[in-house]
Amino acid sequence: MRRVPSTERPAAPRATERLAPDPAGTARAAELLAAGRLVAFPTETVYGLGADGTDPTAVAALYEAKERPRFNPLIAHLPDTEGARREGRLDRDAERLARAFWPGPLTLVVPLGPASRVCDLARAGLGSVALRVPSHPLARAILLQAARPIVAPSANQSGRVSPTRAGHVLADLDGRIAAILDGGPTEVGLESTIVACLEGTPRLLRPGGVAREAIEAALGRPLAGPDTDPGRPLAPGGLLSHYAPRARVRPGGDRLLPGEAALLFGPAGLAGSGEAAMILNLSPAGDMAEAAANLFGHLRALDASGAPVIVVAPIPKHGLGEAINDRLARAAAAR
Ligand code: TXA
Ligand code: MG
Repeated sequence: MRRVPSTERPAAPRATERLAPDPAGTARAAELLAAGRLVAFPTETVYGLGADGTDPTAVAALYEAKERPRFNPLIAHLPDTEGARREGRLDRDAERLARAFWPGPLTLVVPLGPASRVCDLARAGLGSVALRVPSHPLARAILLQAARPIVAPSANQSGRVSPTRAGHVLADLDGRIAAILDGGPTEVGLESTIVACLEGTPRLLRPGGVAREAIEAALGRPLAGPDTDPGRPLAPGGLLSHYAPRARVRPGGDRLLPGEAALLFGPAGLAGSGEAAMILNLSPAGDMAEAAANLFGHLRALDASGAPVIVVAPIPKHGLGEAINDRLARAAAAR
């Protein structure tokens, strides 16, 4: 039988390039993004999977790589507030929040600007656009050089726990994306807080890396809650079974059965720890920021232990605790 020359072989999955966290790495990331390819990079919240937000073909490839439902719109990332103003209309409240929290872990959903370049597919056809100016220096370097809005959902397979390390990204997406820039573990560990400034009172669409209390202090008034009308979900990404490990998650548990795994918070232990498969503590000192940074990594590690159940000790709900409890409730929701 004739040997098939390499150029005629069926397309094998292409290797994912590993990029270094240096100027050559960010330049290569920007170059690949501008060419319509998919690149994972660190932000201060979680790793994002970037694509050219102006290019519907690149955005379609992104949905495909993540196996993400198409109706779920994406966040456009810009290097600065000026860039964000070109894509969406920031009202007085949005400007106030941008001044207080950008660059940083806040996303603003605002009316689409007349000169916006973010394509319809990236917005799932909505008349609004989600904008974020990340503070991570590697992300900002890539965004500056790419010189276009980069859409970036968390760099995990849709429905799985968000990645806070390059290794998490590769576990889900190796061979399916062009490149990954490894910038070490992310600092915040939770996705950005999403606030809609569309009409009237700004609305909290997703709790995240900026606590509600800090946003309300900057606004000078309380945020409206998420829209509870199930027929009109304002943050379509708020699917209940998001952030799901393979194991069953049991929040608010007070004792362990043999072979179960546990996620603790603070100094208290759980009854039955002696026969646990694995026990991790989000923050033995009870520090919320430390707990947020550890959340997704610990969930992945406990899941990898093979335990059928992850029991989660109670976690206070104030500050970043609102977002931590939100993610745990989603992880616990039946699939
Ligand atoms: O921290 C983050 O925000 C990370 C990093 C990578 O930047 N990104 C992230 O993206 O969490 P993603 O795709 O996992 O979440 C985007 C959320 C979804 O819940 C989506 O429904 C919502 O933003 N969203 C996007 N555009 C929207 C719009 N026009 N109106 C309402 N919600 C929108
Ligand atoms: Mg996500």
